[in-house]
Amino acid sequence: MKDQVIIITGAAMGLGLATAELLAKEGAKLVLVDYNENALKDAEQKLKEINPEVALLSVKADVSSEEQVKNYVDKTVEKFGRIDGLYNNAGIEGKQASIVDYDLDIFKKVIDINLMGVYYGLRYVIPVMQKQKFGRIVNVASVGGIRGVLNQMPYVASKHAVSGMTKNAALEYGKDGILTNAIAPGAILTPMVAEAFKQVNPEDPKAAEAQYASNNPTRALGDPKDVASVVGFLLSKANGYVSGQTIAIDGGESNMYGNAE
Ligand SMILES: NC(=O)c1ccc[n+]([C@@H]2O[C@H](COP(=O)([O-])OP(=O)(O)OC[C@H]3O[C@@H](n4cnc5c(N)ncnc54)[C@H](O)[C@@H]3O)[C@@H](O)[C@H]2O)c1
Repeated sequence: MKDQVIIITGAAMGLGLATAELLAKEGAKLVLVDYNENALKDAEQKLKEINPEVALLSVKADVSSEEQVKNYVDKTVEKFGRIDGLYNNAGIEGKQASIVDYDLDIFKKVIDINLMGVYYGLRYVIPVMQKQKFGRIVNVASVGGIRGVLNQMPYVASKHAVSGMTKNAALEYGKDGILTNAIAPGAILTPMVAEAFKQVNPEDPKAAEAQYASNNPTRALGDPKDVASVVGFLLSKANGYVSGQTIAIDGGESNMYGNAE
């Protein structure tokens, strides 16, 4: 990934940061996008410790704002002159509630960030990649983009949409050398997932975590590094022909019928 210019949204923590760490080691030029400015500064610090030479641009942006997405794309082109890869990763889970009880404002917010945020990224990055006749895009869906998940309807709707948009981007822009894929992580232990376990069992989130892991074929939760290695491949030139796919990174869980024994 040496000198490849890669934009990562939601780069300040979790899956975004884990991939930033991997790509920083490999010498990529990174554009870190996040709406949490303090976390963004901490992330920059961590990446400089990993590779003091790393070329970084941090842009504070909320991906649900079209204007702010356009701005992170413009800033990237201004500084680095091109965009080789987009890791369209920023997303939120929303609250857990049944369909009829779901808070409408939270529902719309989940759609605005997870669906529209990914779309705006495609809308403004693709024209830059078209001019280069090269680009690699990874959109972040979820197992919730392949299966239903109890009490998370807007999340599931938005992540199915990410998988659909990925197919469209792959077929509309493959001719321009742009390969677009989605990943569908299962339970990977990031701050977002730790927060979900707190909602499931506020008194003992670790018990909820252990219970969840016991139902995975591997009996474990995933590590953000397990996701980073797949994303690193999909964003690289080593990926020459994989496009339009939603790749599960979940220890095999989304293929399971019934409970693990
Ligand atoms: N962790 C998992 O197990 C898991 C599983 C499936 C899918 N995902 C997806 O992976 C992505 C990253 O999740 P994570 O677990 O790393 O979450 P996280 O909460 O640990 O990190 C998400 C990052 O995105 C940023 N962010 C959120 N909304 C934003 C917005 N509107 N604009 C800019 N930045 C924003 C946050 O500030 C944070 O830094 C999300 O799209 C999530 O749905 C995660």
